[in-house]
Amino acid sequence: MKLIGVVGGGTMGAGIAEVCAKAGSEVLVLETKQEFAGAASERIAKSIARGVAKGKISQDDADAAIARVRVTLDIEEFADRDLVIEAAPEIESLKAEIFGKLDTIVKPEAILATNTSSIPVIKVATATQNPGRVVGVHFFNPVPVMSLVEIISTLLTAPETTQAVTEYVSATLGKTPVQAGDQSGFIANALLIPYLCQAIRMLDSGYATREDIDAAMTGGCGHPMGPLTLCDTIGLDICLAAAQSLYDEFAEPHYAPPPRLRRMVEAGLLGRKTGRGFYEYN
Ligand code: 3HC
Repeated sequence: MKLIGVVGGGTMGAGIAEVCAKAGSEVLVLETKQEFAGAASERIAKSIARGVAKGKISQDDADAAIARVRVTLDIEEFADRDLVIEAAPEIESLKAEIFGKLDTIVKPEAILATNTSSIPVIKVATATQNPGRVVGVHFFNPVPVMSLVEIISTLLTAPETTQAVTEYVSATLGKTPVQAGDQSGFIANALLIPYLCQAIRMLDSGYATREDIDAAMTGGCGHPMGPLTLCDTIGLDICLAAAQSLYDEFAEPHYAPPPRLRRMVEAGLLGRKTGRGFYEYN
């Protein structure tokens, strides 16, 4: 797989485009507006520059990687892609619409993957005429740093599809794939999201401060970030969408999004990306 398409140049889409380009793939990123296209290119260039500053990649390799990424506003340009990874907002109807359209554009042997954090993959696969080529490929934030990728096969995913993306993720991208069933949240978010929601409930109850909740999990349990800082990093809108999807799937109280999380999303307090979540950012 040489020619990769990425739908969406937000945090996750840009990160996925970056790692594919650094691994030698030619990457086309689809955006919906010129201003978003500019922001996506900037996001990718900034993160690659950070990799250079951290000594993870040489300037020459960084320049070559940037030259392998192009942003387009025209989905028809995906006609020649070998693999398209969708990283659009977590709205089931939007993802289904994108997959329905992609299915009519890409070549018959192309693979269509979704980076959904929690929506069962079959829901987008059935929007296509060929669900055998649809698979979940779930990256973690920040994509250039986190080594894991969950591969989600639906009841209809062809074994060759699963095998091809698993090989691309491990052999080309150098990441660690794990195979997960097609249930909301897959492995990691089914475990992580209830923990994050519980930290929000604890804060909301007045039981402990945001700093002490975070300090307990970094200093006491060795997590790189406390749960409230992690919510701000992931984005509260993403946390809410994932919790809602898990609750819709399992109807268990520990998956229910806490009211405080809903109110913060409604208020536009989405975390780092909007400058304020549980903490404030410049
Ligand atoms: N490119 C390449 N490498 C980079 C980089 C970049 N742009 N930015 C940082 N790095 C490397 C650094 O060089 C460093 O590598 P080293 O350990 O070999 O020296 C490493 O990444 C850590 O970077 P920093 O030292 O700058 O930063 P921190 O030590 O503060 O760590 C963090 C930052 C990696 C984000 C860490 O806090 C962490 O792991 N947090 C938890 C993140 C997490 O849980 N993510 C999953 C969220 S859930 C999700 O995404 C699923 C979704 O569906 C909701």
